[in-house]
Amino acid sequence: MRTTRVARIDEDLPVVGQGTWHMGERPETRTREADALRLGVELGMTVIDTAEYYAAGRAELVVADALRDIRAQVFLVDKIFPHHPTLEGTRRAARAALRRTGAGYFDLLLIHWPTPLFRVHLMALSMIYAEGVARYIGVSNFDQAWLVRAGPGLPSDTPVTANQLPYNLGDRRLELEFLNELQARGILVMAYSPLGRGRLLRGRRLTVLSGVAREVGVTPSQVALAWTVRHPGVVAIPKAVDPSHVRDNAAAAEVVFTPEQLARLDAAFPVGVKPYQPDLPAWQSVFRWAYQWEERRMRRGPPVG
Ligand SMILES: NC(=O)c1ccc[n+]([C@@H]2O[C@H](COP(=O)([O-])OP(=O)(O)OC[C@H]3O[C@@H](n4cnc5c(N)ncnc54)[C@H](OP(=O)(O)O)[C@@H]3O)[C@@H](O)[C@H]2O)c1
Repeated sequence: MRTTRVARIDEDLPVVGQGTWHMGERPETRTREADALRLGVELGMTVIDTAEYYAAGRAELVVADALRDIRAQVFLVDKIFPHHPTLEGTRRAARAALRRTGAGYFDLLLIHWPTPLFRVHLMALSMIYAEGVARYIGVSNFDQAWLVRAGPGLPSDTPVTANQLPYNLGDRRLELEFLNELQARGILVMAYSPLGRGRLLRGRRLTVLSGVAREVGVTPSQVALAWTVRHPGVVAIPKAVDPSHVRDNAAAAEVVFTPEQLARLDAAFPVGVKPYQPDLPAWQSVFRWAYQWEERRMRRGPPVG
């Protein structure tokens, strides 16, 4: 598996990892989901991304199943949702998340979204870092302005090391300056929804991807993924439960394009003019409501665990 390294995270990371959004939602698929993650790790996709929010903690239980005897091989990324209004509440949430994963420590712990309380959340993360519970800390969905504000005020030995952001052929907002800045600062970019949640693999977009895929001798999804990780310092985290998808994604890291193929993808999927901004308004109430909604949704289904 091809790897990448950034200045703020002093280790090689595979350019393709694994996501877990929508895992853990149904008890009958939990084993299959954990098996998919384990297969992915076996194939070199050792970065696993999860979140307190996903299935209101149940995705972390799937991760726990997957990690059982392979914890040391995995670079575990977890995200704390920003609905906790206090320092202690955020620390408590991180401890609960860690218990659910059974991982012993986080490799990287992120704040899931920016809110007006982001300083409280980042301070909580830096305390968790100081306690040795998280090896690195970072953010997610922070735009350029937020990231600048996130720097000062943190103890200087706990820099923000990563920013998890939407990035795929259909969403290139990052490329308007922000990607350059993140790379220059040595911050890892974790590209989420690298397959556009599957949308890139339908309709007109699929036709373009299939053309390039045929030439390269790979699948359209591999074209989409390989394109996402063509820059250094970017790790994509596709979510896949189907074992054939897992295999496909692991092999995508090795795909190389000719300049002409890249130019064709560029023309078919233009960058646009709107720079990246978080897709949700940074109001505390939005996140409180969102978390309650996820909890209610999960309670309506059969219990997991
Ligand atoms: N920080 C954030 O706010 C944030 C937001 C969104 C996502 N994320 C993270 O990023 C991860 C990935 O993003 P995502 O789940 O939104 O979408 P995604 O990875 O772009 O797409 C997932 C969908 O693509 C399918 N798929 C995966 N590999 C495939 C392949 N090789 N061929 C065909 N279909 C394939 C999956 O199907 P199967 O599952 O059936 O295999 C699933 O339906 C999430 O799981 C989560 O960990 C973070």
